[in-house]
Amino acid sequence: MKAVVYNGPRDVSVKEVPDAKIERPTDVLVRITSTNICGSDLHMYEGRTDFEKGRIFGHENLGEVVEIGSAVDRIKVGDMVCLPFNIGCGFCRNCEAGLTAFCLTTNPTPGVDGAAYGFADMGPYQGGQAEYLRVPYGDFNCLRLPDDARDPQKQLDYVMVADIFPTGWHATELAGVKAGDWVVVYGAGPVGLMAAYSATLKDASKVMIVDRHPDRLKLAEQIGVIPIDDSKVNPVEEVLKFTNGKGADKGCECVGYQAHDPQGHEHPNMTMNNLVKSVRFTGGIGVVGVYIPQDPGSPDQMYKQGKISFDMGLFWFKGQHIATGQANVKAYNRHLRDLIHAGKAHPSWIVSHNLSLDEAPEGYQHFDTRDNGWTKVVLHPTH
Ligand SMILES: NC(=O)c1ccc[n+]([C@@H]2O[C@H](COP(=O)([O-])OP(=O)(O)OC[C@H]3O[C@@H](n4cnc5c(N)ncnc54)[C@H](O)[C@@H]3O)[C@@H](O)[C@H]2O)c1
Ligand SMILES: [Zn+2]
Ligand SMILES: [Zn+2]
Repeated sequence: MKAVVYNGPRDVSVKEVPDAKIERPTDVLVRITSTNICGSDLHMYEGRTDFEKGRIFGHENLGEVVEIGSAVDRIKVGDMVCLPFNIGCGFCRNCEAGLTAFCLTTNPTPGVDGAAYGFADMGPYQGGQAEYLRVPYGDFNCLRLPDDARDPQKQLDYVMVADIFPTGWHATELAGVKAGDWVVVYGAGPVGLMAAYSATLKDASKVMIVDRHPDRLKLAEQIGVIPIDDSKVNPVEEVLKFTNGKGADKGCECVGYQAHDPQGHEHPNMTMNNLVKSVRFTGGIGVVGVYIPQDPGSPDQMYKQGKISFDMGLFWFKGQHIATGQANVKAYNRHLRDLIHAGKAHPSWIVSHNLSLDEAPEGYQHFDTRDNGWTKVVLHPTH
């Protein structure tokens, strides 16, 4: 089969690789019709993780089931399914508690809980930017989709349920967003836009988003979110201005450890400290932007060991709370699917490019440089 393979920093190509296949009786084999490029892929693409050369990328996957293992009961050949980026077992303590991002059995790496497709340090699983994908524990991990998932436009909505829609939703859950809240989101990439969208769906009364890419800020504006361009204004002062000098009730971090200033210099503590300043006393902060335990490639001396200089004093003084981590996609994906099916959510409004698998290298290149108009790229390996 054809697949998007990592060759080294900023170098991917589409190659012939051995076909994905059923390896265990609980597996399901999916023919991939839509698979997204994610900001998380970019950390790996840029060589800022230990992602292995020759491995297949792709953790935001949707397609049609073409084969099932002998121990699969619920999922049938022909089902359209969306796969959470997390691979859970369904029977460990964390999966039972709904914390499928931290499954205790699917990642064989000692000391690491949680697995995902085509993801550094998240187990040996291949990604789905390929014609076929092996899905472990298919009955547990496949989210069945209604028939309208075969409609190409609707499919773009559903494929956002593999990761970024639930992840944006998770950011608002971690922050504790409730109806009526004032919310600030740092980062207007796909994840930040989905966090702002989720806050809007939860009836937040005011949502602000900070970034410096006009195209991304413009998309946010389309759903009634207040855009804040930090290349032109001080984002903290601007948030305070919109919140009677008090700060937002809740804040979402949707940038991660490669946070940088508008000139491009990385400051891994930048968004965290801006959030502490932008959120009111006793407010909540949800962090879904990725931070990693070691980052030898960081230009920041402290962050090479995964440490940041955090405004602990102000954070404590303001009585804020913070929650973090990968999104437990299965905790939300049924509900978000049903919102889409009912026509009440349209997360595909951020999709800018639909490409064939062969066009993946240019998709990576443009999305990585955050070129104007490249907000979210969906690859279509098969139809
Ligand atoms: N927790 C999870 O489960 C999960 C899932 C998916 C993605 N992620 C992570 O979420 C983060 C965002 O993903 P994405 O796909 O939106 O990526 P992205 O890289 O396209 O978007 C990040 C955005 O942040 C902006 N930015 C950079 N520095 C900033 C700063 N100091 N202030 C404000 N904005 C700033 C950039 O301009 C960019 O638009 C990544 O770290 C990704 O790995 C986490
Ligand atoms: Zn992703
Ligand atoms: Zn588990």
